[in-house]
Amino acid sequence: MKLRPRLTLLTVLLVVAVVAFTSFSTIMSFQYFLRREMISNQRTLFENFKQACHDTLYYSDDLGLKIRSESFERSIPGLAYAVFVDEGRGNLQLGGVESLRRFKKQNPVCEETPGGGGIAHLAMNEANLSGERWRTYCQKISLSNIKGKEASGSVFVGFNMNLLDSGLKTVIDRMWAILMWTMVIVLFFGVILAYFLAMQLTKPILHLTEGAKAIGDGHLDTHIPVNSADELGFLANEFNTMASRLRELDQLKDDFLSSVSHELRSPLAAISGYVELLRNKPLEQILPEKRAKALQIISESVGRLTHFINDILDLAKLKSGHVEIKQQPLDLKEAGEDIFGLFQPLLENKSISWSLDIPDDISVLIADDDKIRQVLTNLVSNALKFTPSGGTIKMSARNQTEFIQISVRDSGIGVPSDGLEAAFERFKQVKSARDHVVGQKGTGLGLAIAKGIVEAHGGRIWMESELGKGTTVFFTVPNKPAPKLNIAETV
Ligand SMILES: Nc1ncnc2c1ncn2[C@@H]1O[C@H](COP(=O)(O)OP(=O)(O)O)[C@@H](O)[C@H]1O
Ligand SMILES: [Mg+2]
Repeated sequence: MKLRPRLTLLTVLLVVAVVAFTSFSTIMSFQYFLRREMISNQRTLFENFKQACHDTLYYSDDLGLKIRSESFERSIPGLAYAVFVDEGRGNLQLGGVESLRRFKKQNPVCEETPGGGGIAHLAMNEANLSGERWRTYCQKISLSNIKGKEASGSVFVGFNMNLLDSGLKTVIDRMWAILMWTMVIVLFFGVILAYFLAMQLTKPILHLTEGAKAIGDGHLDTHIPVNSADELGFLANEFNTMASRLRELDQLKDDFLSSVSHELRSPLAAISGYVELLRNKPLEQILPEKRAKALQIISESVGRLTHFINDILDLAKLKSGHVEIKQQPLDLKEAGEDIFGLFQPLLENKSISWSLDIPDDISVLIADDDKIRQVLTNLVSNALKFTPSGGTIKMSARNQTEFIQISVRDSGIGVPSDGLEAAFERFKQVKSARDHVVGQKGTGLGLAIAKGIVEAHGGRIWMESELGKGTTVFFTVPNKPAPKLNIAETV
């Protein structure tokens, strides 16, 4: 069953159960209180009649008692009789005509109830006479009358319980009828309300399901509307975040494919073009300079391809965590000099001056020599690439107790603020920066690899920059005590 009808049904069932339970318990307690009220009324009535019997016995006023008994007969529904039996006058029965007739028919006997308590002298018995239930209250009284003579007798008040019960039943039945109607009305509005409630609740779930299905079907640009601040709204938000993350991954995959194919295509085209050229004519017919040029371009292209494939493999290894970081003493000063030495022709070509600012106390670092050199080479090559002629590049190191912070600063074109983090993502290149590069363009993998290496060392890498003024890339390497020299590692 779908969620909406299920919710409707459940709500209706709940409403019915609550209404039924409330009605039933209301009627039951009402019935209980009515019965108690009835019994208390009967006792009051009995006390009332007993007082009349007292007066009669004291004044020997038989007529007064008869009148009282008849007035009871007329005014009290369910009263069977109200009779006084005068023992002093040979059990003379006094009361109204109807009372005496019914009293004779039942002929009750008043026995003293043993034991104490408020109703010790008030005997009560229930008799079943030819299908009718009678309840009789009785009590013996004795006193010395107005003439000073001892007088005694028994007070009897009886009720026809069938009559009283049927009265009670009529009231209860009427209540049941009212409650039934109430229940029908509550049910009617309950169903309508439950339906709207279920609709209200299931609407966002329906949106969610449709959205999730659309995302599942590959429509990653689906946006699920978030209209509430509750759990469902939270879930919708999570779905939207998931969809946008999937979009990013999808974009990344597309970018990766186009970048890889682009990076592979240009050197391959160059190689195949020049190989064709060399094959089409006998070698002797090609000018030696042209041959040398062709071979140089083929060799550069092969180098570029190898470099690119190595970068991709490095990145894959770093990403999967399968990279081994050696703990070796690395002379930072020496490494800096080596790297700048490597770029010397290019630096001279662009008249870029460089400097090293590495204090003696941190000249030696414990890290993976090759990999840190790879990071530094990358940073210096970027600085060189993005710094116009006449600029400067400076490599510095600072001891920050827990780690060594190394930086490469240039006076180049800078990176816009939204590119500071993005530059470390794979294949990310700032377009304006790429256009600026003369000669071989990069692949956008260098900083991603540097980040992977630094993080594998337990450090952090970031970039600070001011457009048009220059860029500084910082990275940290934890400051570790030098390990015991292991020949195998250092060789
Ligand atoms: N020193 C720098 N000055 C200006 N831009 C930089 C610098 N270093 C990196 N960038 C930007 O970050 C991008 C990513 O760098 P990187 O990952 O090394 O890729 P690549 O050098 O192959 O372009 C560069 O394309 C460039 O836009
Ligand atoms: Mg680079």
